[in-house]
Amino acid sequence: MTQKRFNWAILGCGKIAAKFSSDLKLLPNARLYAAASRSQYKSQVFADKYGFEKAYGSYEEMVADPEVDIVYVATPHSHHRDHVILCVEQGKAVLVEKAFALTATQAAEMIDAAHRNKVFLMEAFWTRFQPSFQKAMEVLQSGDLGKAWMMRSEFCFYSPYNPDNRLYNLALGGGSLLDVGIYPVFWALQIFGTPSEIQTTADLAPTGADRSIAVTFKYPGGEIAQLASSLAVCSDTQTEIWCEKGFIRVRRIDPSTVKVTISAKDKSEEELIFHLDNGFGLFLEAQHVMECLDAGLTESPMLPHSFTLLQMQLLDEIRTIAGVRYEGPPPTPSLESRGL
Ligand SMILES: NC(=O)c1ccc[n+]([C@@H]2O[C@H](COP(=O)([O-])OP(=O)(O)OC[C@H]3O[C@@H](n4cnc5c(N)ncnc54)[C@H](OP(=O)(O)O)[C@@H]3O)[C@@H](O)[C@H]2O)c1
Repeated sequence: MTQKRFNWAILGCGKIAAKFSSDLKLLPNARLYAAASRSQYKSQVFADKYGFEKAYGSYEEMVADPEVDIVYVATPHSHHRDHVILCVEQGKAVLVEKAFALTATQAAEMIDAAHRNKVFLMEAFWTRFQPSFQKAMEVLQSGDLGKAWMMRSEFCFYSPYNPDNRLYNLALGGGSLLDVGIYPVFWALQIFGTPSEIQTTADLAPTGADRSIAVTFKYPGGEIAQLASSLAVCSDTQTEIWCEKGFIRVRRIDPSTVKVTISAKDKSEEELIFHLDNGFGLFLEAQHVMECLDAGLTESPMLPHSFTLLQMQLLDEIRTIAGVRYEGPPPTPSLESRGL
């Protein structure tokens, strides 16, 4: 349990900010201090609903408030770079939603700004803090199932095509990869590390955003990861890790429940259910941020900047192969530039 009570502010009062705010209420050391929106009316409605003490009608006014300790940035990924830099330049600790940025170049700028200002910065990567993920990694690292050689991971949901929707609008960082494909990429990076080969096939929506994308990572040791995401279909939201003596399956059953199956070749199957009685599971990352700040850290040991940067570089690489181009971002680094 952490010591200090921290004043949290929300930057961007959208859908995920609503869930995050209701989760913050579960943490006794989190004070719901300020909500900031581009609209004063919207921030006031949001603040009243979730119990924030102050409502700001601009992000700039909120970050100028010296009482704000931590800002949760919940705008579209296209705006994360500018909003994170706005906060860190004012000395605020920042938890920013995934995807951390549009490109690796933007991510590096954000991390540099946090270093320069000596403030904490972390990507709000939900999965990293879930007990189900930690259990799967623990089983894998125990070696009980032998070496993992292959894995398959997907995250798909159906969202009807609408060029103005954030999910399909390239100006807002649209596409399945940055919205949900980032989760399978995260799993592969955690399990096998940096791939040496990337193959990608994508179906682009008329806006140019990737509607569906399939990715294969190959590793120097021979390991293979098959990943997929889509805005066009429903799927199981499942990750399977195939090992020499069995497999692990992590499957999201509903928003509050994840089932982890550990199936050994010579033994019966073990099924573990991870169920949240309260909240959406976002309080785990918020609690971790406060623990890091109590310990005087500017970077999370669970989700270091080097990992976030590497993940952004892989996402750049996948998008480049798939032919998805955002408006304005600088050229993406190539595999060669990462020394692969
Ligand atoms: N961790 C998770 O499980 C999870 C789930 C969903 C989304 N996310 C991430 O969270 C971020 C926001 O997603 P969301 O679904 O909450 O989006 P959303 O409902 O569209 O909300 C985004 C908010 O950003 C603000 N904003 C600032 N500039 C904007 C612009 N030019 N256009 C639109 N909105 C703008 C708006 O707040 P104001 O009008 O109040 O200024 C808006 O309400 C994305 O990066 C997404 O990937 C994470």
